[in-house]
Amino acid sequence: MTLDYCQSHQDRMERVSHLGFLCNAEEAAAHIAPYAPILEVGAGNGYLASKINARVPGQIIATDPQHDTSWCFTHGEHFPITRLTAARAVTTHTPNYTVLMCWPTLNHPWANIAAHRMAPGQRLIYIGEGAYGCTADDAFHKNLSSNFLEIAGHAIDQYHGIHDYLTIYQKKGE
Ligand SMILES: C[S@@+](CC[C@H](N)C(=O)[O-])C[C@H]1O[C@@H](n2cnc3c(N)ncnc32)[C@H](O)[C@@H]1O
Repeated sequence: MTLDYCQSHQDRMERVSHLGFLCNAEEAAAHIAPYAPILEVGAGNGYLASKINARVPGQIIATDPQHDTSWCFTHGEHFPITRLTAARAVTTHTPNYTVLMCWPTLNHPWANIAAHRMAPGQRLIYIGEGAYGCTADDAFHKNLSSNFLEIAGHAIDQYHGIHDYLTIYQKKGE
């Protein structure tokens, strides 16, 4: 479903500042919960993490290196955030965790660095656009197609003009 009530960029960014980049976190949490325990990296203000925690209490760790207001999140945090980069979070916690990346920063290498540090057999849930879209960088998308196996994919609610999807992968090599 495409949300029509956020047609202007300004409307969308106002909503994002409260609820994160995902159009419908409740819906995404339902797809993610079966893969708990979850290690979310780049979790922003923790809104998605709060929805996952409501489904599988105590089975999500949310991490992000920056204070919420340094991005566009100006309304506080919805869930406790551990201050860690994605690379550090992935190497600190066991591969038993499914790594969750929702809207990794456009043209920034952090998602790809963390994906490289994941263990063989570890699961990754990526929410964002495909190659040449507005999330992560080219190297990340190449890494996904070469080194990860797609397990499942879900169409999710999208803002007008945005083409994000939720895809579940397993790292090859095991
Ligand atoms: C586009 S926002 C997405 C936030 C949130 N996942 C959402 O969907 O609302 C990108 C996030 O990446 C975080 N970030 C920046 N550098 C990072 C790094 N090295 N490791 C992990 N996250 C990072 C930012 O602080 C920001 O919260």
